[in-house]
Amino acid sequence: MAFAQRVFSGMQPTGNLHLGNYLGALVNWVKMQDTHDCVYCVVDMHAITMWQDPAALKSAIREVTAAYLAAGLDPKKSIVFNQSKVAEHAELAWVFNCVARLGWLNRMTQFKEKAGKDRENASVGLYAYPCLMAADILLYRATHVPVGEDQKQHLELTRDVAQKFNNDFRPQIEAAGFADGFFPMTEPVIQGPATRVMSLRDGSKKMSKSDASDYARINLTDDADAIAQKVRKAKTDPEPLPSEPKGLEGRSEAENLVGIYAALSERSVEAVLAEFGGGQFSTFKNALADLAVAKLAPLNADMRRLLADPGFVDGVLKDGAERARVIAAETMNHVKDIVGLLR
Ligand code: TRP
Repeated sequence: MAFAQRVFSGMQPTGNLHLGNYLGALVNWVKMQDTHDCVYCVVDMHAITMWQDPAALKSAIREVTAAYLAAGLDPKKSIVFNQSKVAEHAELAWVFNCVARLGWLNRMTQFKEKAGKDRENASVGLYAYPCLMAADILLYRATHVPVGEDQKQHLELTRDVAQKFNNDFRPQIEAAGFADGFFPMTEPVIQGPATRVMSLRDGSKKMSKSDASDYARINLTDDADAIAQKVRKAKTDPEPLPSEPKGLEGRSEAENLVGIYAALSERSVEAVLAEFGGGQFSTFKNALADLAVAKLAPLNADMRRLLADPGFVDGVLKDGAERARVIAAETMNHVKDIVGLLR
């Protein structure tokens, strides 16, 4: 194999992390530590593509780091750091701004959604966001990126950038001793116990940190009482639970809660329905509330403990950044050499 397997992923320090981030991403990131060389980043430079309150941003960076650690990312096994500490992210992003084409960026659906109607007033950073993301990944020449469905288009752009770079500079890359191209064709890894955790208020919408109702999501900072209350108040329909997955069709709220139960208990939807099928929702919700509290309250307690010790969290980020910088500097040296900049 030409490229050593390496995982890179990141989350933005904006708003509250929630159950969807945990079951859809973090659980999987934690598992990948056993099989891959992993780099996990708090992408704070992506956060400032939209205006952030500076004091809130600083605490959000520590909060996401605390969530990473509480969920089980081990800074001894993996590199855990925040993006802005490794200047090479911005440096490589500039080179990629010069590789990517306007037409490619014009197609990005996330930009269209985030910029909304007032496109002229969106930041240049928001537009160039995918090039910074490609730089995050390719700086470590990562081969696998665990992400949600919504990031697939950005991963395609990452591959387009890698391919164009590999083609545009083929002779220089070969002369530098890279017979198979300099950047790998990175693959998204879309898996996790529950890749689509939906809002507790509306089963057709994803659980989101920006939902106006806090009852729509279970935040990783919610305490046991809040978790239990949100589960009990979650929207459902009047029918009892079916005994088989087929019976969940067209019942998005029921499907979501059963999916969450299955993911948290590490059982299949079939097994969960075999146990609760035919029963009332209230019984199932009580069981789900107990399970969610049992699984999430320790994580919540760990996060609080970590947040009470910002010196420790900052130390993890500093150490992670030092290790990340070693890889990043090596890549950047090659890139400068290949492109024709003096090292
Ligand atoms: N765009 C990603 C999101 O909003 C965050 C992100 C930035 C990312 N850089 C990344 C994810 C690199 C994976 C790899 O979820």
